[in-house]
Amino acid sequence: MQNKAKPSKDRILVAVDTPDVAHAQKLSRQLQGHVGGIKLGLEFFNANGHAGVRDVIHGDDATTPRGQATPNQPLFLDLKFHDIPNTVAGAVRSVVPLNPKIINVHASGGPEMMRQAMAAAKFAAEPLGIMPPMLIAVTILTSMGEEDVDAVGMKGPALDQVVRLAALTQKCGLDGVVCSAREIEAIRKECGPDFKLIVPGIRPAGSDKGDQKRTMTPREAVDAGADYLVIGRPITQASDPIAAVKAIVDELDA
Ligand code: C5P
Repeated sequence: MQNKAKPSKDRILVAVDTPDVAHAQKLSRQLQGHVGGIKLGLEFFNANGHAGVRDVIHGDDATTPRGQATPNQPLFLDLKFHDIPNTVAGAVRSVVPLNPKIINVHASGGPEMMRQAMAAAKFAAEPLGIMPPMLIAVTILTSMGEEDVDAVGMKGPALDQVVRLAALTQKCGLDGVVCSAREIEAIRKECGPDFKLIVPGIRPAGSDKGDQKRTMTPREAVDAGADYLVIGRPITQASDPIAAVKAIVDELDA
């Protein structure tokens, strides 16, 4: 079995999809120490900006004079940057002081954009005395079907494009990609064991699939080679989120 070294709870990144700071704060506090981190995305960030992120993930007194923040748990800041290299580099520099563990860009922004994003992450982290965030790429949004991929001018099966963009991401020095469960195997084969695969669309056995169509259970995804599992509603909408997390960890450890 792949990837069994780290504690199972550390693989779980909880998608906190809300524009509501108080709600996000409550969930984050509840989950602290029980999971590998939380994911805040475009909905939250566009509503609440840096201040909102700091409210959720950082203690009141956690900002040092040098401006960096000390998260009370790891943060995946899922903002999927995609612009000209100079602008993306600036966007990366602007979020590094929030001290996220993971940030991301679109691979289709191209090699120069990805390389400049990497350089910017290191450049911004160094004077703050913090680790640069892990930089990962989105290959092709899994919401896009074969027809959508064709409509934007990419020829051939979507999976081929995903693997091609994952290989490009790796060549540019990034740490990994976000991918759907059904893409894990092909990317793992192409990019090897050290390339990080972050996988949403996870549904514990017996839970409601919601709008996710192609899902895997946490255990199936880790066995297939996932490093991190992005799980939202099965945890955030559970009547007892901690019990939901524990059930997932038990499933992974069984
Ligand atoms: O609630 P649920 O577990 O479906 O949440 C999954 C999270 O992962 C959401 O934040 C969603 O936007 C994100 N995501 C996804 N599928 C992708 C990429 C991201 O579900 N392909």
